[in-house]
Amino acid sequence: MTAALFEKLGGEAAVDTAVDIFYRKVLADDRISHFFDDIDMEIQATKQKAFLTMAFGGPNHYTGKDMREGHAHLRARGLDDAMSTPWWKTLRRH
Ligand code: HEM
Repeated sequence: MTAALFEKLGGEAAVDTAVDIFYRKVLADDRISHFFDDIDMEIQATKQKAFLTMAFGGPNHYTGKDMREGHAHLRARGLDDAMSTPWWKTLRRH
């Protein structure tokens, strides 16, 4: 992916807005909100913004875990791939 995609999507402002809306929706979804009970959502949103910026090919400093490692303890608590679908649908809408 190239920086062009990141810019085409609206750059930093668009990623910021999308992630903020995204977590508002996630926390309103009883099927997955409980995974975030002990999570500092400000830190989480910052990590997600950096991760998506990297994924879209923008300038980034993502230093977090890879997705398999970052969610391993959540899988142990019942998180499965089917639960990720609403996340992606939400992102596509913005
Ligand atoms: C329903 C599906 C998902 C749930 C419930 C979920 C939940 C969580 C939770 C609770 C954490 C914090 C872990 C901790 O600090 O102990 C986390 C970390 C993270 N998630 Fe997810 N996640 C889901 C899907 C995704 C997807 C699809 C992405 C990518 C677009 C993603 C990106 C991240 C990133 C970047 C982190 C930070 C990793 C780190 O700590 O370094 N998550 N997730």
